[in-house]
Amino acid sequence: MKNYSGKNKVKTAIFVSGSGTNLKNLIKFSKKLNSPISINLVISNNLKSKGFLFAKKNKINTVFYSFNNNKNYESLLSKLNKLNIKLICLAGFMKILPKSFIKNFKGKILNIHPSLLPKYKGLNTHERAFKNKEKYVGCTVHFVNSKLDSGKIVIQKKTKLFKKDTISSIKKRVLKLEHKIYPIAIEKILL
Ligand code: GRF
Repeated sequence: MKNYSGKNKVKTAIFVSGSGTNLKNLIKFSKKLNSPISINLVISNNLKSKGFLFAKKNKINTVFYSFNNNKNYESLLSKLNKLNIKLICLAGFMKILPKSFIKNFKGKILNIHPSLLPKYKGLNTHERAFKNKEKYVGCTVHFVNSKLDSGKIVIQKKTKLFKKDTISSIKKRVLKLEHKIYPIAIEKILL
């Protein structure tokens, strides 16, 4: 098992767009004594993202980046390199990263997706699973490659879909599972 104490921790950037519960969870995880990562940067395409505001409030280095202009990723890349970022965790990040960007961080970008991939790539996963009367729903942490929600799976966790379930109850239950498995996935790839 590798030792990630103090300065050895893997410098990590979190990309966030929305409420940021996964971001908060990863920040908490990073502060644990034996955690292999430190959160050194938070990037958001949404200035109003609760996750982004939380990171700011907690004095984590934050950068707003619109992700609207696919050509100019130079400044973002140089920021990431300057801080020696070795791992990127997408946590409710709602933009698609361009291939050229992903190439620069090959095998170093993780994403959390609220479905049992390869089922239900893209948006509205719970709605679709619910409509299809799936037996199980769940979430997946996977590496990011150039195809949407298609990179190598690191870990998955499922939960039964009950008759009394609603979209909102599924969302809540799966989100809890997400918070469980994202740190485990990070340990799995780093330890
Ligand atoms: C999560 O369900 C995540 O899997 C998906 O977007 C949601 C974001 O939640 N990609 P949060 O911003 O981490 O609270």
